[in-house]
Amino acid sequence: MAVLPIRIVPDSVLKQKAKKVHAIDRSIKKLVRDMLETMHVEPGRVGLAAPQVGVPLRVIVIGIPEEEDIVLINPQIVRRRGERIIDEGCLSVPGYTGQIKRAEAVTVKGKDQNGKELRVKAEGLLAQALEHEIDHLNGTLYIDHPEARETLRKIQPEETGL
Ligand code: NI
Repeated sequence: MAVLPIRIVPDSVLKQKAKKVHAIDRSIKKLVRDMLETMHVEPGRVGLAAPQVGVPLRVIVIGIPEEEDIVLINPQIVRRRGERIIDEGCLSVPGYTGQIKRAEAVTVKGKDQNGKELRVKAEGLLAQALEHEIDHLNGTLYIDHPEARETLRKIQPEETGL
């Protein structure tokens, strides 16, 4: 396993649309293990998308404290409910936070690293993390949302999570 460096803006890999994974082979399983290790290296990290470690593939990992890690390959949001304004930050945009409009709840489907179909119903931080990481797969950062850009402010360059 390996802790991978986090790509930060304006790295072009963050703006690419990530490619679908066609086979969950050894290289994908290694990528998942490395992403999990990279996410857990700092306690404040709760999610990571493959483009953030320089790999433009549709793979995300989520690690909400006190909950089991979630690995999703080719994740798709199949349902969104409600709307809320929340603070958000991104490991790839260190030292900033902004307010963003997110769903109150989402349902996401995808596969885990063993090829098992998963359907995740989420609200709260998990829903936010899923939307944020899936945005990364589409080359979208939270600062690309107009409301976040308008409310963007500097914070201590501590770890900001997603
Ligand atoms: Ni992020």
